[in-house]
Amino acid sequence: MPEILHCNAASGAYDITIGKGVWEKFSSFPGRKLLVRDGNVPNPGIEADGEIVLTPGEQYKTFAAVESICRKAAQLHLTRKDLFIALGGGVTGDLTGFASAIYMRGVRFIQIPTTLLAMVDASVGGKTAADLPEGKNLIGAFHQPDAVLIDPAFLRTLSFADLTGGMAEVVKTAVILDSQLFDSLESAGEDAVLAPDFDDFYPGIIRRCCQLKAQVVESDEKEKGLRAILNYGHTFGHAVEQKSNFTIPHGAAVAIGMNTAGTLAAELGMWSASEAVRQRKLLELFHLPVTVPAPFEVAELLEIMRTDKKNDASGIRLVLPEKIGSAGTVSGIPEEMMLKAWEKCHD
Ligand code: GLY
Repeated sequence: MPEILHCNAASGAYDITIGKGVWEKFSSFPGRKLLVRDGNVPNPGIEADGEIVLTPGEQYKTFAAVESICRKAAQLHLTRKDLFIALGGGVTGDLTGFASAIYMRGVRFIQIPTTLLAMVDASVGGKTAADLPEGKNLIGAFHQPDAVLIDPAFLRTLSFADLTGGMAEVVKTAVILDSQLFDSLESAGEDAVLAPDFDDFYPGIIRRCCQLKAQVVESDEKEKGLRAILNYGHTFGHAVEQKSNFTIPHGAAVAIGMNTAGTLAAELGMWSASEAVRQRKLLELFHLPVTVPAPFEVAELLEIMRTDKKNDASGIRLVLPEKIGSAGTVSGIPEEMMLKAWEKCHD
């Protein structure tokens, strides 16, 4: 039986349905349908009124892609009563969500995530976006989906790197919100990615991550406070991702970002050095990188962090862990401390 969780966001409530074959529920939603599909993901059998296939990759997460989705909808004469369906990973979900937020000033959309990263994080919560050459996710809108349909069977088609990349967001959720989840990830060990159990372990962690994310979104949909903790590892990580021209994928960059943020938090005495080590070991257990490759200059990474959209008048704003299962937002940290943390987490 599928499991149904609820996300009661202030601007709209919706179900997150997890189970085998649940993507088929798209057909119960009224309206004509535009399928927006990641070019790497075969259509499992979604019959829509039109389809647009996106070129996969973060470098194609552009406003031009959003425009092409909207133009396709216009060519099909879709109206405000119609529906977009996102089938793919985080990039597809973010672009489809953004297009649905602005097409005719807003139409409904459904998320059918096919990567672990999108299942445990990006598909829930209504953050939609495209990148600019100046930075990641700099344009977008908060626009909640009408439904999130998660079929863990899609995970069987993922590459090893995509699976481990998704585990980075799972570790993030555990570090900031749930020490029991962290303990269970440690117990699962390396087999979680080397001998993945798609019938029990993965549906379990997807359920827990979606529950936790929905709770955060319900209490702070527009990121006025608490929701910022979901960006743990992302300010450091986005700098790595951007500097690498997206050759280091999002999850791997977030893993490096979490190790750097954890190292900084230990330097600042915000959490214990032993917890920083536990976090690093868990990331390594899932075959994730924890250090910045040698050619990257730490001063350049810091410069990219200065353009992060979460910054405020007192400078770079960071999410730092307090203990496993709890994190907070901090600003006004001297940049020399950040450079020192980068240097400690550098090849
Ligand atoms: N991925 C961070 C958030 O949804 O707030």
